[in-house]
Amino acid sequence: MRIYVANDYNDLSRKAANIISAQIIMKPNCVLGLATGASPVGTYKQLIDWYNKGDLNFEEVKSVNLDEYKGLGPDDEQSYAYFMHSNFFNHINIKPENTYLPNGLEADEAKECERYNGIITSVGGIDLQLLGIGCNGHIGFNEPGTSFGKETHCVTLSDNTIDANARFFKSKDEVPKQAYSMGIKSIMQAKQILLIASGENKADALYNSILGPITPAVPASILQLHNNVTIVADKEALSKILVEHTITSGGNLQ
Ligand code: GLP
Repeated sequence: MRIYVANDYNDLSRKAANIISAQIIMKPNCVLGLATGASPVGTYKQLIDWYNKGDLNFEEVKSVNLDEYKGLGPDDEQSYAYFMHSNFFNHINIKPENTYLPNGLEADEAKECERYNGIITSVGGIDLQLLGIGCNGHIGFNEPGTSFGKETHCVTLSDNTIDANARFFKSKDEVPKQAYSMGIKSIMQAKQILLIASGENKADALYNSILGPITPAVPASILQLHNNVTIVADKEALSKILVEHTITSGGNLQ
């Protein structure tokens, strides 16, 4: 695991975008696992900027998103499909048919989970998975207590997550109670993982994920077992870790 300390959110976004760019340049037909939330917005902006400058080409890139609220369709402004189009896909030359998200409007859970697992397999697995992290250590919508062995599944969101995500909705009542999420098993099969975290409210989650026991109670702690994980986080998100450790410029924890 390599950990890079970012000075601020802009620096974090540039560092993360650089790592994703390297992946696209090294493998123009790569499969990117993508995330939503506030954390990756700056990373997407930076990638769009480099695309506009002619430094990046998404023509052959495929993307598979982590999750989607159950009950929300792509026209709903709160859906993750809408988020991905407005924050990223509409501004680059990725082919719409090469972008995949769970279908929040599919009521048949077993059918949708099977379809999405099939997509992950049919694209040949994920080369680089971008992850944010929830304050309770969740990745995707894999809430604390979720078995590490799960593939795509339908999740009942924890109260903690509903509270945290209410900021994107008019009121807490509007936050869907369920979501489809790629499972930990699928995330762990990605060849490379890039986790980004910003702000002091992520300090406990990051500390427990990196230095705590590997347990479903902290879903991101499983990343300790992956052999190609890069974390880019600002000093606030790393504050608890930095009390006990230093992090070298090469990304090693000491
Ligand atoms: C949501 C998403 C996660 C995301 C997390 C953190 O619950 N399902 O994929 O990582 O929120 O979001 P933020 O980056 O806004 O803090």
